[in-house]
Amino acid sequence: MAFDIEMIKGVYSKMAKNVDKAREVVGKPLTLSEKILYNHLWDGAPDKAFVRGKDYVDFAPDRIACQDATAQMALLQFMQAGKSKVAVPTTVHCDHLIQAKEGAATDLKHANNVSSEVFNFLESVSNKYGIGFWKPGAGIIHQVVLENYAFPGGMMIGTDSHTVNAGGLGMVAIGVGGADAVDVMAGMAWELKFPKLIGVKLTGKLSGWTAPKDVILKVAEILTVKGGTGAIVEYFGPGALAMSCTGKGTICNMGAEIGATTSTFGYDDSMERYLKATDREDVAEEANKIREYLTADPEVYANPEQYFDQLIEINLSELSPLLNGPFTPDLSTPVGSEMTGKAKDNDWPIKVEWGLIGSCTNSSYEDLSRASSIAQQALDKGLKTKAEFGINPGSEQVRYTAERDGILQVFEKLDAKIFTNACGPCIGQWARYSDPKNAPKNSIVHSFNRNFAKRADGNPNTHAFVASPEITAAIAIAGRLDFNPMTDSLINENGEEVMLDEPTGWELPPKGFDVKDNGYLEPEEDGSHVNVVVNETSERLQLLTPFEPLGDTITGAKLLIKAFGKCTTDHISMAGPWLRFRGHLDNIANNTLIGAVNAFNQKTNFVKNQLTGEYGGVPDVQRQYKKAGIKTIVVGDHNYGEGSSREHAAMQPRHLGVAAVIVKSFARIHETNLKKQGMLGLTFANENDYDLIQEDDTFNFLDLNEFAPDKQLTLEVVHADGSKDAIKLNHSYNEAQIAWYNEGSALNLIKKQNA
Ligand code: F3S
Repeated sequence: MAFDIEMIKGVYSKMAKNVDKAREVVGKPLTLSEKILYNHLWDGAPDKAFVRGKDYVDFAPDRIACQDATAQMALLQFMQAGKSKVAVPTTVHCDHLIQAKEGAATDLKHANNVSSEVFNFLESVSNKYGIGFWKPGAGIIHQVVLENYAFPGGMMIGTDSHTVNAGGLGMVAIGVGGADAVDVMAGMAWELKFPKLIGVKLTGKLSGWTAPKDVILKVAEILTVKGGTGAIVEYFGPGALAMSCTGKGTICNMGAEIGATTSTFGYDDSMERYLKATDREDVAEEANKIREYLTADPEVYANPEQYFDQLIEINLSELSPLLNGPFTPDLSTPVGSEMTGKAKDNDWPIKVEWGLIGSCTNSSYEDLSRASSIAQQALDKGLKTKAEFGINPGSEQVRYTAERDGILQVFEKLDAKIFTNACGPCIGQWARYSDPKNAPKNSIVHSFNRNFAKRADGNPNTHAFVASPEITAAIAIAGRLDFNPMTDSLINENGEEVMLDEPTGWELPPKGFDVKDNGYLEPEEDGSHVNVVVNETSERLQLLTPFEPLGDTITGAKLLIKAFGKCTTDHISMAGPWLRFRGHLDNIANNTLIGAVNAFNQKTNFVKNQLTGEYGGVPDVQRQYKKAGIKTIVVGDHNYGEGSSREHAAMQPRHLGVAAVIVKSFARIHETNLKKQGMLGLTFANENDYDLIQEDDTFNFLDLNEFAPDKQLTLEVVHADGSKDAIKLNHSYNEAQIAWYNEGSALNLIKKQNA
């Protein structure tokens, strides 16, 4: 089952009715984003207009995609839901855990050795619960999704920020945390704040050295890394129509770099061509039948300023290639001489050591073919490449076809390393150095999306610049950051001056796509007999035990930590080396809150153990409270839990025995995650009460037995000298969420309902 045409027909069959109704309730013509959103309401046909940027709305996504790093905890949780199958078509893609070093064959073998237990676990869970499984080496999640599952007008969620890539095929596709994905897998609604809408009108036409990548690099320059927050970016205009589908994917992909909820394009001929080329003629046929519902209404295109919250216009005919970086994807410099001075002023190494082509952003057949047209010129014109080349094809289908068509061989002749069809250097899975922390200062250019310090190779001194694949190839050949292929010549091996011609390539393979083994494993129809094996001694995986309800009496609780200032999900559950424990709750819990600053001594990971009077690390102290059967609370400042949506930041404290998190204010996703794990996530009714909390305090909830929506809770704070304060706490639990609390977690409740 590469894709589910019946599901797609189902989405399309209600689209006309729902969109017409939505137009009526909203009272004006609709953008494409609104059409897709209103056609995916959990409660069915729209009966009221939602306020953008304000209303929280329940949606019913069509698909879920998970990658191997995030799927572990998501699926461990799903196993708790008591379901025999996922409620919504789901796929798992093994792409993050494969290190790039020697080249595909050796690297893949190595990954299969070191991560076999994770891959085997994911494969068996997928097989058991009806989840499509893409083996290591099958490709990068978002390229595989675009090739197989994305469809115009669909809604998808995925446990990876670049899920948004599927907007290239006209979807509303959004990256979420594992807990959200589990809800949808288990048959629940998915909640999202109705996004604001940013319109990007593309006029003119790309030509010469300019590529779709330059469009998003330009948008990143305009909007910066935060400018898209809470919004869907909708692209339209003649420039959009003239662009390939995978090029649109590149633009949507990097919408994550401007913080956008997602990005999308209206259905057009390029999408139809792509669907047909990827063996989905039937999807194209169905989409053609409701074409007008898969783009914005004509009035929107005519007067976009009336329908979008913000409007940007870019003339593609005037756009020139850009190089964004280092260390942030929104710092743009036009390719060429401007970089000479900028690099000198900022002390960026002008010499380029690597050119990396690939990642989910730019690893399509078109990308590889255009970059190879530049590489071929190096061979034809007697140029010796100054930097090394690394290539990550986006999928086995792209790799196989590119090899058949001689594209990869061009790079190989330049001594390029063809890495596995996987994320590799894009996620720091690149064994470039034996000691990255002490590696030398250098510059690299890549066609990826993120270029934060250490992202590619762990070296804080690597200056990574983002460019299109064709510019990456040209700069790697020249070996200089400030090379401008449109104006600069190079000296070849015979001492002659030569210029690089403009790139050429194919939007789609002229002989069609081909693949021998795409790496897909279809799950069994009935997986009830499939055994999911998790070794009890495993360091990386641990089956979950359902959380016990905390009950309606919490007294004698101790303070674990009063966090001072910023406390993000990274402070609560650090990433980096801890990533390897993402599937092992008890092991990863050893990083719980180690990044949070203790308000009483301004130190991290140094809190008082009230049982002994001694100070110790947060997880150690908490484990001692747990052993003694004492519940604890965590106190925090404003926007507690901002950052990522990772559910570990809620599961870990819960696992260790923290009962309540009481803060001045929450980042909403984290607050919901706490609720889902059956904890108390509360806010001070009077912010100043934060100052009342002392290091030796003991806490008694006085009216938890009356826990109800819109009713404050009262907390008695008993200080070390015996004095007491009774403080009021607010909460945002609704009835359903209180039921999660009462059952111990949302999953416990689902399981009970399924029993
Ligand atoms: Fe992988 Fe990098 Fe994309 S980590 S999913 S290739 S952003």
